Amino acid sequence: MTPDDSQNRSCWGSKLGFILAAAGSAIGLGSIWRFPGQVTDDGGASYLLIYFIATFLVGYPILLAELTLGRDTGKNPVGAFRALSSSRIFPFIGLWAIICAFMILTYYTVVAGWTIGFVFEELFNFIGLAAPCAILSDLANGPKNALFSLIFMLLTIFIVKSGVNSGIEKASKVMMPALIIILFGLIGYVFTQDGSMEGLVYYLTPDFHKIDSKLIFDALGQAFFALSLGSGAMITYGSYMSRKNNLAESAMFVTIADLGISFIAGLLIIPAMFVAQHNGIAIFAKGTLMSGEDLAFEVLPSLFHSMSPITGVVLGISFFILLAITAVTSTISMLEVPVAYLIDEKGWGRGKAAWTLGILALAISLVISFNISLIGYVDLIFGTIGLSISSLCLCIFLGYVWKTDSAISEISFGFGSSFFHTFSRAWAVLIKYIDPLIIGVVLLTIL
Ligand code: PHE
Repeated sequence: MTPDDSQNRSCWGSKLGFILAAAGSAIGLGSIWRFPGQVTDDGGASYLLIYFIATFLVGYPILLAELTLGRDTGKNPVGAFRALSSSRIFPFIGLWAIICAFMILTYYTVVAGWTIGFVFEELFNFIGLAAPCAILSDLANGPKNALFSLIFMLLTIFIVKSGVNSGIEKASKVMMPALIIILFGLIGYVFTQDGSMEGLVYYLTPDFHKIDSKLIFDALGQAFFALSLGSGAMITYGSYMSRKNNLAESAMFVTIADLGISFIAGLLIIPAMFVAQHNGIAIFAKGTLMSGEDLAFEVLPSLFHSMSPITGVVLGISFFILLAITAVTSTISMLEVPVAYLIDEKGWGRGKAAWTLGILALAISLVISFNISLIGYVDLIFGTIGLSISSLCLCIFLGYVWKTDSAISEISFGFGSSFFHTFSRAWAVLIKYIDPLIIGVVLLTIL
């Protein structure tokens, strides 16, 4: 995914290679950890509905905008803004995006560490060793979190530093279908259990009274987070793209794949919660569903433990390994953003940049490992508000400084369809007027 040569910018091996890497960045813990948590926090199907709308109306156009900015300039986020305007102010949008990517990396690594922990937890549970199981399933255990964060960060640094093109392409080709098959297998199992239909109804029948400003703010922020927008990741990935590719089509593919995985994850986790309730585990507190945070890590292990031992251990281990892989394809994109910046703008070597930034991020991850309540705060500031602010600034920059017409001529390379005129006009209206208005109003409601 990353260029092997820091001097000459290289391109993705193939169109599929790009799509897999971008989908790899997008699909991750955002879909399987953050999304189901928000669904339960914000009242089920109403959140799902607003999330769908936010993804297509705001997420997709901005994804296309970021890829376009990256491909046109062939630069990192700061360099891209600098290349397109002489003002000294605009590169700060890129800098803010880089800071968000870096800060998201710090807590994401801790959560990703949990996924590795659960691979072993499933194994120990199968063998019947209760003590290590208890440690591994304790999300707040500092030393355990620190150890797995360290492992995860080293893995990320190693991949970013060596810039493996084919490795990620190959891994993704197997991983995505495997993940989808396991998710469907689990859904099939959950649906045979009592209580699951109640969960399905909760997930799929909207109650419009539940739509409020917090729900809309969460759904919009999640649309950015899940598509890796506002963090410069898609600008950076776009900068490695060739003009032969159809940007609009690739962006649509990534959007649908990401949304699909989130939807399927919800289809598994929400009904599984209600099955747990049916089995005597309290999932409601004071009439509302228990706090959604970290839901996946509570519900899924108990689901695996409820199966026959062999099935449970096989499915549990494979699921958490796959989850760890989807997490690593996301963390490499987060680290790649500041690394590309140091290489392009400061002339650093790839190895030095990856190690320095990775170790810095790890230092913060270690602090978070011992204080996991920090995850919620850092996630809110950088993962929701931060990404919304940079996406808003990007729309304004693209609509009024670089101008949508210049962007449209970049999008036209590789598009090759008579539908282009209508498509590009609609896209321009969204980027110039509708999306900045939506993001601006939603951000104001939380101030
Ligand atoms: N999109 C990733 C996920 O859903 C998270 C991410 C955010 C990745 C920002 C890169 C940049 O898990």
